[in-house]
Amino acid sequence: MKGSERVNLDRAASIRLMFGKISHRYNLMNMVITLGLEKKWKRYVADIATSSRKGLLLDVGSGTGGISMEAIRMSRFFSVISLDFSLPMMKMGRLRQREAGVNLCSGDALMLPFADKTFDAVTSGYLIRNVSNPLAAFREQYRVLKPGGKAVCLETSPPGFTRLSPIIRWYLRSVIPLLGRAVGRDRDAYGYLAATTESFMRPDALASLMAEAGFEKIWYKGMMLDTQMIHVGIRPDCNKLDV
Ligand SMILES: C[S@@+](CC[C@H](N)C(=O)[O-])C[C@H]1O[C@@H](n2cnc3c(N)ncnc32)[C@H](O)[C@@H]1O
Repeated sequence: MKGSERVNLDRAASIRLMFGKISHRYNLMNMVITLGLEKKWKRYVADIATSSRKGLLLDVGSGTGGISMEAIRMSRFFSVISLDFSLPMMKMGRLRQREAGVNLCSGDALMLPFADKTFDAVTSGYLIRNVSNPLAAFREQYRVLKPGGKAVCLETSPPGFTRLSPIIRWYLRSVIPLLGRAVGRDRDAYGYLAATTESFMRPDALASLMAEAGFEKIWYKGMMLDTQMIHVGIRPDCNKLDV
């Protein structure tokens, strides 16, 4: 095994371990640090992804199932599969998802256990920042999408250089780790989440990465002072990357 592969495996293992540790407080903490707005953003992601009104949707890195639940509520003609590699995270949302009719699947975003051209839509919420190879993750999403299918990605975005950026940085560097200790009971994990937000790609770079993976008609939209971004891309009907 090459050194870089070893590093990627180690990173994936520590990410999985970290989400396992914070799983029981994940929903509460998310609600607190987004001031309750994350539900609205996830509903928006689900709305865009299910615009065709029927089909099969895969939610990658689904965690406790926030996006999957919104998707299945939004369109009863959509079948939804939630996929994650952290069993404790999946366990936290398992009951409500099963009751709603969401199917759960354990798997790796970099090696999706599905055939090519299976899904009408693929969603991900706060996944891309956590994978060792974001381009490979988008390529996998592209592979399992049917031609014409849609990828919808919700992510945090680093603060730019506006008048409000210093306040956003202060919130990320000081408030989130403090809340992480008080509410999430894990200051390190939330310190990591804040640090990866600051060092993550700018929205145009993320859009370029989606284009490199083969997506077309890419657009993105910022929310909450552009600290949150939704990127959308379509797998074209016929593409030079298809074989
Ligand atoms: C920040 S949480 C987001 C959960 C959910 N999508 C949401 O929006 O609340 C990131 C999730 O991605 C999962 N994850 C990270 N890397 C993964 C990978 N390579 N394969 C599958 N799941 C992964 C983690 O286990 C975690 O549940």
